[in-house]
Amino acid sequence: MAIIVAEGLTKIYRSGFWKFKKVFAVKKLSLIIEEGEIYGLLGPNGAGKTTTLKMLVGLCQPTKGTIKIMNGEPQSLEVRKQIGFLPEQPYFYEYLNGYELVFLTAQMYGQQVTKKRINEILELVGMAEAKDVYLKNYSRGMLQRIGLACALIIDPKILILDEPMGGLDPIGRKGMRDLIIQLKKQGKTIIFSSHILSDAEMLCDRIGILIKGEKVKEGTISEIIGEEIYEYEIVFTNISEAHLWQIKNRVKDLIKSGDKFMAICENERQRDEILSFISSVGGNLVSLIPRRKSLEEYFFIFIKEKRYAP
Ligand SMILES: Nc1ncnc2c1ncn2[C@@H]1O[C@H](COP(=O)(O)OP(=O)(O)OP(=O)(O)O)[C@@H](O)[C@H]1O
Ligand SMILES: [Mg+2]
Repeated sequence: MAIIVAEGLTKIYRSGFWKFKKVFAVKKLSLIIEEGEIYGLLGPNGAGKTTTLKMLVGLCQPTKGTIKIMNGEPQSLEVRKQIGFLPEQPYFYEYLNGYELVFLTAQMYGQQVTKKRINEILELVGMAEAKDVYLKNYSRGMLQRIGLACALIIDPKILILDEPMGGLDPIGRKGMRDLIIQLKKQGKTIIFSSHILSDAEMLCDRIGILIKGEKVKEGTISEIIGEEIYEYEIVFTNISEAHLWQIKNRVKDLIKSGDKFMAICENERQRDEILSFISSVGGNLVSLIPRRKSLEEYFFIFIKEKRYAP
């Protein structure tokens, strides 16, 4: 069931001193988000991701188009109570501690929450231990987490997260990804924007690619990049120099790493030839890995082909 239906969203900003210059941040964008899904909004800088999310949250008014969230208007109080929002670069008053911030956020929504509930949310986002520390001493990752706690305290049905993994190190990103998966399991609908394509690949049920304000692709990851295997990596050891030369001449690439070698084969025929050659000359096969295109690879090829590159 669709939980968000946006049709023909266009956002024109006016910029410059006299506000004469028009910036088309989003153009005729339609989105249908199903209940319980994780939807990733991807695109390069300035693609219109933040503008789209802000329109969904009701923080900015579309120039044209309509948005229905659970059949209501995004600005209505009923709908707002069902949306938790994590802004792109959350900024908080520095002389509050984590607990106080979450408590005050709940009060701003007019919700009475118990100490137990606040502690549960802090525990969920991994901030229980730092709850008494002033926000000015939080790292970027901790600010993202406490921002998420604020978004969650009202127990919303929908979470809209603008670059939730932005600025996080690999461990922080993994933590945020695990959290997002946990929230999906609780039945939340999650829409997030990201530059980090591998995160989107791991998390999203569907993605939409925005470029210069337009949605240029939408679907599941496999619908978009396909399941097709495009090369094989064969890792092996124990091969003489002379035999290595023979392999090198038959494959797309041959890479040495320590005492191991990796041959990149373009197709099944090449793969089978190399495998039988390695075994005939007494080499040891370590691994054979079929490679599918990653979203990242797809994205670069797509942008280049369609001449969307800046
Ligand atoms: N308040 C504003 N006034 C004028 N132009 C704006 C405003 N906010 C955004 N823009 C412009 O609208 C376009 C889309 O910006 P937006 O922030 O939505 O992109 P984004 O995809 O979130 O980019 P990023 O990946 O850098 O966060 C950009 O050209 C941006 O400069
Ligand atoms: Mg943005």
